[in-house]
Amino acid sequence: MAKMKLYYSPASPYARKVRAVALEAGLTKKIEMVNVVLSPIAPNADVDKRNPIGKIPSLSIKGMELFDSPVICEYLDTQHRRRKLFPAKGAARWTALRLQALGDGLLDAALLARYETFLRPEALRWSDWTAGQMKKISGVLDRLEAEVKSLKGKPTIGSITVGCALGYLDFRFASFGWRQGRPKLAKWFASFAELPSMKETAPTA
Ligand code: BEZ
Repeated sequence: MAKMKLYYSPASPYARKVRAVALEAGLTKKIEMVNVVLSPIAPNADVDKRNPIGKIPSLSIKGMELFDSPVICEYLDTQHRRRKLFPAKGAARWTALRLQALGDGLLDAALLARYETFLRPEALRWSDWTAGQMKKISGVLDRLEAEVKSLKGKPTIGSITVGCALGYLDFRFASFGWRQGRPKLAKWFASFAELPSMKETAPTA
């Protein structure tokens, strides 16, 4: 059977979700990794051909291109016989999907703040915009601190997404100090970050 191809970047937290799911699911031998360099102002033609949104991760499978990370992760979860990372039904499913939405929402705000402070020419930067994104990040972190119980237990798509989001804050927003005032979330992350699937996918520039 032809290998799947994952278009990714080692710094992308969304691609990290997919890589961590592939590891948890025991699928890495079935996936060829294609490391691509791109940004909103420097698109990658190969990625654009597969995904008109021009974003990674993008997964090429026989006759189909899948994007973005929630869709790819859910697809991969149908391709293995280990414990499922997307709980099938009931409260466990909605808890996991809700946590995924919180983690992805944090990341969406973090990426917008990153582009504003890193990519946009200094003279064009808009500090209110960045402050607005950082406020969203703080709101998600506070909610996760209050609901840390829902992160505990065996990894799901929810805890993996939150783990990748917190890892991205450490990677690109270290001086933000997200742990300050959030001891329960910090304790949970210290332990979650030790999972082999998290250690093996830690972001690099
Ligand atoms: C980053 O370098 O922070 C980054 C790279 C690719 C996707 C998202 C973030």
